[in-house]
Amino acid sequence: MFNIRQFAALAPDSYQQLHYHEQLESTNDEAHRLANEGVEHGSIVLADYQTQGRGRRGARWMSGPGDGLLFSMVLRPEFDQSYYGRIALAAGLAIAAVLREEFHIQAELKWPNDVLVSGKKCCGVLVESKDGYVVLGVGINVCNTPDKNHFVAVNDVVSKQVSREKLLAHLLPSIMKHVDHCATEFDSQLRQIEGMSYLHGKQICFLSGDVQYQGSVQGIASDGSLIVTVDGELTHFAQASDVRVVGD
Ligand code: BTN
Repeated sequence: MFNIRQFAALAPDSYQQLHYHEQLESTNDEAHRLANEGVEHGSIVLADYQTQGRGRRGARWMSGPGDGLLFSMVLRPEFDQSYYGRIALAAGLAIAAVLREEFHIQAELKWPNDVLVSGKKCCGVLVESKDGYVVLGVGINVCNTPDKNHFVAVNDVVSKQVSREKLLAHLLPSIMKHVDHCATEFDSQLRQIEGMSYLHGKQICFLSGDVQYQGSVQGIASDGSLIVTVDGELTHFAQASDVRVVGD
């Protein structure tokens, strides 16, 4: 079980804004409910277990009790909606930076919203916006994952086990800082993202709309879209799914 007392001692400021539940259907759903009640920017919903955890594009997010960090933040950004496409990237950067700097784990970023460790996904980010607020949901496999073929848990690849309480205590202020600054400091964030990018320079195939594309990744644009050379032409993709490195 998540040790709430230990977390409160490690991160007293974040603890003030934390709504902890042993079990929820989805922390994103609970965050939407609280946002509609008027909770403040930076409020956090954390659950030890979700029965209906949601991923992007209608996928499920599977995590056993105590296996991961499952949380959502209510954001009331001061910046314009046109920058919302940057939020998932800024959050991913914050997560990968904490894993690298605090825990010495060589995390990489896979556009648009995955954090990889040892080439497999350990974390996904789900951003949903409505009526002037944003819910930022984060799922990180820390102790275990039910699907070891496609995912990895942080503690599968480290010699010194990472505690969920300590990881969350580092993540929350870092995510807030990166998201709050994504409108004004995105150029610098993009340089850091490209430095940790799993896809950079690789030949990939993916779906955008219903069309299958293949091309080589050049970078990420200031609106958060992926820049790919397809048939010799630089093309920007705001959305893509099933992004795979050719030959992997
Ligand atoms: C993805 O990779 O598709 C995004 C996964 C996001 C999962 C997290 S777990 C906490 C929060 N609550 C949810 O229902 N989903 C997000």
